[in-house]
Amino acid sequence: CGIVGYIGYREAYPIVIKGLKRLEYRGYDSAGVMLYDGENLKLSKTKGKVSDLEAKAATEITTNGTIGMGHTRWATHGVPNDVNSHPHLSNSGDLAIIHNGIIENYAPLKEELIKRGYVFHSDTDSEVLVNLIEEIQLKENLKLGKAVQVALNQVVGAYAIAVFDKKTPNEIVAARLGSPLAIGVGEGEYFIASDASPFIEYTSNAVYLEDGEMANIRLHKPMKVRKIKDDSIVDPYIQELQMNLEQIEKGGYDHFMLKEIYEQPNVIKDTYRGRLHANEGLIQMAGVEDNLEKFLNADRIIIIACGTSWHAGLVAEYVFEEFTRIPVEVEYASEFRYRNPIIGKKDVVIAISQSGETADTMAAIKLAKENGAFVFGVCNVVGSSISRESHAGAYTHAGPEIGVASTKAFTTQITVLTMIALRLAKAKGTLSKSDFHHYLQELEIIPEKVKEALQTNDRTKEIAETFKDAHNCLYLGRGYNFPVALEGALKLKEISYIHAEGYPAAEMKHGPIALIDEQMPVVVIAPKQGHYDKIVSNIQEIKSRSGRIIAVVTKGDTQVRELADYVIEIPETSDALSPLITTIPLQLLSYHIAVMRGCNVDQPRNLAKSVTVE
Ligand code: G6P
Repeated sequence: CGIVGYIGYREAYPIVIKGLKRLEYRGYDSAGVMLYDGENLKLSKTKGKVSDLEAKAATEITTNGTIGMGHTRWATHGVPNDVNSHPHLSNSGDLAIIHNGIIENYAPLKEELIKRGYVFHSDTDSEVLVNLIEEIQLKENLKLGKAVQVALNQVVGAYAIAVFDKKTPNEIVAARLGSPLAIGVGEGEYFIASDASPFIEYTSNAVYLEDGEMANIRLHKPMKVRKIKDDSIVDPYIQELQMNLEQIEKGGYDHFMLKEIYEQPNVIKDTYRGRLHANEGLIQMAGVEDNLEKFLNADRIIIIACGTSWHAGLVAEYVFEEFTRIPVEVEYASEFRYRNPIIGKKDVVIAISQSGETADTMAAIKLAKENGAFVFGVCNVVGSSISRESHAGAYTHAGPEIGVASTKAFTTQITVLTMIALRLAKAKGTLSKSDFHHYLQELEIIPEKVKEALQTNDRTKEIAETFKDAHNCLYLGRGYNFPVALEGALKLKEISYIHAEGYPAAEMKHGPIALIDEQMPVVVIAPKQGHYDKIVSNIQEIKSRSGRIIAVVTKGDTQVRELADYVIEIPETSDALSPLITTIPLQLLSYHIAVMRGCNVDQPRNLAKSVTVE
C-alpha cells in the first residue's frame, strides 16, 4: 500500500491525489482520501484506481482544506471494496488513520473493542488500530501522540501509519515499523509518504523514520521524533534528496516500463561508474573492499531475494561459482526464513531487492544476522530498509523504477553482482589475468550492446503481433540463460496474463515437451556462446513436435535461423555476460504483447511493486 499525508498552507487535496498516483506502484486495488476543511472530516473511498477515486471524490469532497491524507491499497485483510479502503475513521468520527502493513494480533484486539461497544464497518486490521487508539485516548485521557504510542506498544505486526485527530487539528502523528515512511520537511508544511516521490517538487528535505520510531508533526513547530518502545527522543536526521521530478515522470514514453527498458544502457553505466576501471584492471566498491576478508573467507554465499531479484540471484550463482569458485545457494526469502535454515558465521548472505522494502527479504536478513552471518545488501532504493539493515552493501543506481514489472533493476543487479564476483576472483586468483581483463573490458562496453539489443524493438513488435493471442508460452535457456528464461516467462505472465513457464532447455523433455503442439510458442534463448550445440538439439526436439519457435540468437547465426520460425538477433558477448543482452528482447516482447492485449502494463492486476507484507 501507499500512504500520503499533508499538513501546511496549500490545498491538500490535489497534493494528496497526485501523490497517490505516484505511489500507485505500491498497490492499486482501492484508494481513499480524507480532507479536513477546518470543521469537518470529508472522506471519499472507492474500489479501483486513484483515477476512480478522483471521479468519486469530485462529488464527495467539495470543500477546501490544508490537511489531507490518502491511501492506495493492496489488499491483505478484506477484499478490495469501498468500505475496506482507507482512511478509516474511529467510532467517534474524530480520528482518521491511513495504514500500510499488517496488524497480526488484530483479532483479539478487535474482540476486546467489540466488548467495549465498538462497532466495525470494515474487515480491516487498520480500523481496529484506529479504534484502539481512540479507546486508549478516552480511557486514559491522553493526547493523540501518547495514545498512538500506547496503542502501538500493544500491536504485533508491521506498519507505516499516519493518524489525524479532529480535536487537535494542527497535528498528524506518524509511525513506522517494517513499512517505509518518509517525511518531507518544507517551510510551514510537512508531507508524509511511503516514499519521497509525492513531495519531490515541494521540498528536497526529508526525514526517513527508522523502524520503531514515531513523529509528532505539528504546524509551525519542529517535528518531534521518539522511539515507540521507550519514549526516548531521537534527533531527526534531515536528508537532502537526490531524486528529481524528471526521473519519476514518463518523459515521452507511453509507459514507465518502456522508458525503463530504454534507460538500461545509461543506468548500467551509472551502476559501474566510478567502480569499474577497465584500463587499470580495477574494480572498486567500498562495501566490498571494506569487507573483502569476509567474502574471501566465506564458506559459501547464500543469496536471498524474491521475484525478479531472485532471478538476478540465480544468474549471480552461475557467475560467482564460475569466477570465484565459492559455493553459492540461491533461496526465495520466504522459504529461507521459515525452514530453519543452516546458517554459519562464515556464511555471507547477499540480499537482493530493488525496493529494499520486501517484507520476506527483510525478515530473512534479520534471521541471517541473528545467526551470525555477514549480510550484504544489493538494493536500488537509497536509504531503504534493507539497505540499512544490511551490514554493508552496494546500490544498483538504476534510478526510480516505477513500472511494476522489473526491467532495469534486473540488469543493474546483475551488473553489480558480476562486479562483485570479478573483484573476488581477482583477490582469489580464480580467474586468469587475461580473462579478468577481458571481462572488465566487456562489461564496460555492455551498455553499447544493450543499445544495439534495443534495436530489436520493431522485430519483437512484429513477433508480438503473431503471438498476442497465445494462451501459453514456454521459455527455454541453458546455463547463464536459464534464469533469463525464467525472467522472460515472469515478464510475460505479469503484464500480459498469458501463462508462461521458464525451463532449463534440457529439462524440457522431462515434462513440458508434453505441452508442445502447433499452437505453442516456445521462446528459446540460443546465443552462440554457451551450450549452443546442445540448445540446437533442443530446438530440433521442439520442431519435431511442431512447436512454434522464437529464437534469440547471436547476430549472423545461420543454424538456428533454419530451424526457428522467428529469430531475434542480438550482439555477441561472452556467455557469462550474455544475460544482460538476451533479456532485452524478452522484455520488449512481453511489453508489446501486453500493450496489444490492452493490458495495463505499468500496473498489472493483483500485483504490487513493493510487497511490504509477507
Ligand atoms: C514484487 C514486484 C517484482 C519484484 C519483487 C521483489 O513482486 O512486483 O517486480 O521483483 O516484488 O521486489 P524487490 O523490491 O525486493 O526486488
